[in-house]
Amino acid sequence: MSEHLEMEYETIQNVIDSWELLRRIPNYDVEAGTLLFTHLFEKCPPAMVLFGFPKDMDPTCEKLKKSKRFVSHAKNMVAMLDRALAMLGPDAELLEEMLLDLGKKHVTIGVPVNAYPIMGDALLQTLRELLGDKFNQQAEHSWLEVYRAFSFEMISVMRKTV
Ligand code: HEM
Repeated sequence: MSEHLEMEYETIQNVIDSWELLRRIPNYDVEAGTLLFTHLFEKCPPAMVLFGFPKDMDPTCEKLKKSKRFVSHAKNMVAMLDRALAMLGPDAELLEEMLLDLGKKHVTIGVPVNAYPIMGDALLQTLRELLGDKFNQQAEHSWLEVYRAFSFEMISVMRKTV
């Protein structure tokens, strides 16, 4: 198994604890997903094109946030993180396979390597905004480690194919 997915128990616990807090927010998938994508598109407008939106669209506009496509992506991404986090400890091998598969899909879609850290920043900003003080330094460090490990796995497919 990839050493990047071998993490300290405490790191996994911190991430799962903050995710549990997030899940208590009503409609957490839509709330978190909408914020995540708004931040991603603010930080990286070209990413809107990858999701089928015009690149000159205002990432904060209501029309975008209400679009079915936007909301379904947002929920999809949060559901995926939910599944991935549940697999972190016990099912790390399966998680690795899933991330490699997902990485291949992203290569086909044309997601560039440099979009991954931007998505990571957008994710941390979303957690900070939704969890407030409960998202402490420790939780933030643990999330960074986990997000980096996930993206490292997904990106590794590109290194293997070039
Ligand atoms: C750890 C990071 C990421 C995770 C866990 C993730 C997860 C997912 C999942 C679960 C899907 C749906 C795949 C399917 O249909 O089977 C997806 C699709 C997609 N992802 Fe990601 N993703 C990540 C990073 C990124 C980044 C950085 C970008 C680019 C900014 C991106 C852009 C896309 C696009 C364009 C699609 C296709 C959406 C569609 O048209 O259906 N993803 N991603």
